[in-house]
Amino acid sequence: MKSLRLVILAVVLFFVLNFTVQRLEGETLRTLAEKLGIYIGYASINDFWRITDSDKYMEVAKREFNILTPENQMKWDSIHPEETRYNFEPAERHVRFALENGMVVHGHTLVWHQQLPPWVSGKSTKEELLKVLEDHIKTVVGHFKGRVKIWDVVNEAVSDAGTYRDSIWYRIIGPEYIEKAFIWAHEADPDAILIYNDYNIETINPKSNFVYNMVKEMKEKGIPIHGVGFQMHIDYNGLNYESFRQNLKRFADLGLKLYITEMDVRVPQNATPKDFEKQAEVYRKIFEICLDNPAVEAIQFWGFTDKYSWVPGFFKGWDHALIFDRDYNPKPAYFAIKEVLEKKVMERQK
Ligand code: XIL
Repeated sequence: MKSLRLVILAVVLFFVLNFTVQRLEGETLRTLAEKLGIYIGYASINDFWRITDSDKYMEVAKREFNILTPENQMKWDSIHPEETRYNFEPAERHVRFALENGMVVHGHTLVWHQQLPPWVSGKSTKEELLKVLEDHIKTVVGHFKGRVKIWDVVNEAVSDAGTYRDSIWYRIIGPEYIEKAFIWAHEADPDAILIYNDYNIETINPKSNFVYNMVKEMKEKGIPIHGVGFQMHIDYNGLNYESFRQNLKRFADLGLKLYITEMDVRVPQNATPKDFEKQAEVYRKIFEICLDNPAVEAIQFWGFTDKYSWVPGFFKGWDHALIFDRDYNPKPAYFAIKEVLEKKVMERQK
C-alpha cells in the first residue's frame, strides 16, 4: 500500500515537473521577465532600421526584451543639434518600434557632460545656461509625454572620488542644476519616472556614498526623483557581490526604484570558452541579487549582440561583453540569465 502511494506520487511528480519544464521551453527572457513583473531590455543602436541585418536585429529585440533605451539618439547632440532646431525623427523611430511591439521606452539622457553640441558648450553665463537647460528638458520631455515612461534625467554628475563632477553644468550653474532638472522634467510629464544614472556606483564606495547622500537629500526636500540607475559596465571579474546587495538595499530603503541601466560584462578580446563561462557566472550573480530585491524594476544591457557593442571601441583589449555573439547566437550568459529567471518563476508558482 505504502509503495503504491509512493509510485503514484512519483508518477504525478514526473508529469508536473515535465509539464513545467516544457512550458518554460518556449520562454524567452521577455516572457519570463513579464511573468515576474519586471522589465528586461537593451540599448537600441543608432539607425537600427537601416543596418544591413535590421530584420534579424528587430526580431531578436522584440522576442527577448520589453524595454529599450536609445543608445545615442536622445542625447543632446542628436536631438537638439542647433539652438533653434530639434531633431526628433531618429528618436521617434526607437519610440515607435518600442510601442508597436509592446515595449516600454527608457529615455537617455537629459543632462550630461558628454555628447553636447558646440552651441551648448559655448554658453558662458549662468542665466543663459539655465534657460537653455529648462527649454531643452521641457521640450524633450514634453514631446514624448506619455510615451517615454522613464527618463535618465541627470547622468554621471559625480566623480569617482565622490564629489560633484566638474562639468559645464556644475561650473557655470552650480549643484542646483541637478534639482532643477528633476523639477523641470516633472513639470513636463508628471507621470514619468525620473532617475539619476551613473557608473561605478554598484557597490559601496566614495562615489556611491556621495550619490546616496545626494538623492537622500533630494527625497527629503521633496524633489521629484523616483529612482537610481546603476550602469553596470563591468568586466568578467565581477564585483563585490555582498557590497552590491547592501548598496541596492540602502537605496531601496530610501523609497527609490532601482534600475540596472547599461549592463555589459567585458572579457578579453581573445576570450576562450572558459572566459565565457566566467562571464556567464557574473551575469548570473548580478541577476540573482537583483531579483532578490523587489525595488529592482528593470535590468537593461547596453546592447544585445556583440556585433554592435560600444565595448571594443572604448575598452582597449576587451570585447564580447553582451549576451548574444556577433551572429545573434545566445551565449552562456544568456542561458545563465534565463535559468535565474526560470527559477524565480517556478519559485513564485509554488
Ligand atoms: C556610449 C555609446 O554606447 C556610444 O555609442 C557613444 O559613442 C558614447 O556613449 N555611459 C552612458 C552612455 O551613459 O550614454 C554611454 O554610451 C556609455 C557610458
